[in-house]
Amino acid sequence: KDKKTWSGRFSEPVALLVQRYTASVGFDYRLAEYDIQGSFAHARMLAATNIIPQTDLEAIEKGLTQIWEEIKNGQFEWQLEQEDVHLNIERRLTALTGDAGKRLHTARSRNDQVATDIRLYLRAAIDEIIDLIYGLQYVLLDLAEQHAATIMPGFTHLQVAQPVSFGHHLLAYYEMLLRDGQRLQDCRKRVNQLPLGAAALAGTSYPIDREQVARELGFDDICHNSLDAVSDRDFAIEFCASAALIMMHLSRLSEELILWMSPAFGFIRIADRFCTGSSIMPQKKNPDVPELVRGKTGRINGHLVALLTLMKSQPLAYNKDNQEDKEPLFDTVDTLKDTLTIYADMLAGLQVNPQAMRQAALRGYATATDLADYLVKKGTPFRDAHETVAQAVRFAENKRCDLGELSLADLQQFSAIIEQDVFEVLTLEGSLQSRNHPGGTAPEQVRAAICRARSQLPD
Ligand code: ARG
Repeated sequence: KDKKTWSGRFSEPVALLVQRYTASVGFDYRLAEYDIQGSFAHARMLAATNIIPQTDLEAIEKGLTQIWEEIKNGQFEWQLEQEDVHLNIERRLTALTGDAGKRLHTARSRNDQVATDIRLYLRAAIDEIIDLIYGLQYVLLDLAEQHAATIMPGFTHLQVAQPVSFGHHLLAYYEMLLRDGQRLQDCRKRVNQLPLGAAALAGTSYPIDREQVARELGFDDICHNSLDAVSDRDFAIEFCASAALIMMHLSRLSEELILWMSPAFGFIRIADRFCTGSSIMPQKKNPDVPELVRGKTGRINGHLVALLTLMKSQPLAYNKDNQEDKEPLFDTVDTLKDTLTIYADMLAGLQVNPQAMRQAALRGYATATDLADYLVKKGTPFRDAHETVAQAVRFAENKRCDLGELSLADLQQFSAIIEQDVFEVLTLEGSLQSRNHPGGTAPEQVRAAICRARSQLPD
């Protein structure tokens, strides 16, 4: 095999285990596309500033084009001895073009090269993830629209609290995902800055044109300090933090789906293609997908902590520690993309059982607050009304019935101001209807929220 690109001052070859230990090509080969894009832009700048001759640029462009074809077709021979994606590509380019290939690395270091590659990779990943979030939001809106008037028990402490529209419940997740998308848009601004030109750490003595490279690669700006440019990975940490928040949100929905699918609730069914069976219990159908989403949230949190710990206490500027940024980052992107894709499909196929939701809402005295509000509107101070209704609930509990099933005479024992019109207030529909303000659960408001959300999303 060829000798190492940097072995000129070495008196013995690197030990085999050390070669394996220090190599990153086994995972950073995934950066090839971006490495080649970066090299195209760097070479064009070198030619435009007369640092390399035009003929070298032509040879480099031809060579890089061929290398990208070889990589895409699976013909490229990745060599562990060449350490990483950058040196593998450079070695091949030199084999194809001779001196021209050897000139490509003028005014560049792998330190600014790898920082550029990761930023290009992450920028593309963020754009894809933002689109996947939109996709999931659309599914949530469609489902919420179908169920604007479907009534379920709203919970606090997982105890029945007040009736809510199932559509309203789903829209809560729409809002979470909206902020998640905004966070990624914001993170993208800090990702989209060009490190190239920083070279190893101090900049370079060649008359480079960083603005040209930034423009060509679609960066919004250049990194303004060479030491910072090559060494910090805060943009990747920020992305992983946003990813952890997305997974945290989806783990909450997953937990709910799992509960709702259990026969004790029976609110929903998840389509069979997202479930698995048991090898011993023939009756089982398990909600594996939401369970795994819940589980993978731990893994994404782990990647965030890994990157924070990796960066912590590193002296300026580049240190090899940073090579460890890639696997957590790649796995975060892969896991997030798969999770968002699968979630949109799974929710689109969700079967909802409004009867079961309704029955559950009828069981937990969900309209007790409405009765208290009724008394308040007739002049009772709220704290007294709270006490009165608590006693009525105890009475109903003993009779094993709902508040709305008590007779007017029964209710009047607790407060003489109760009249026949109380029974409208004690219905689930009446309870929902009455919360008719922006952000409230009345079906009318849910429909308005859906319209507003649709106008926020791109087509
Ligand atoms: N594979 C390295 C990384 O991922 C590339 C930069 C290495 N630079 C160096 N001087 N060893 O960070």
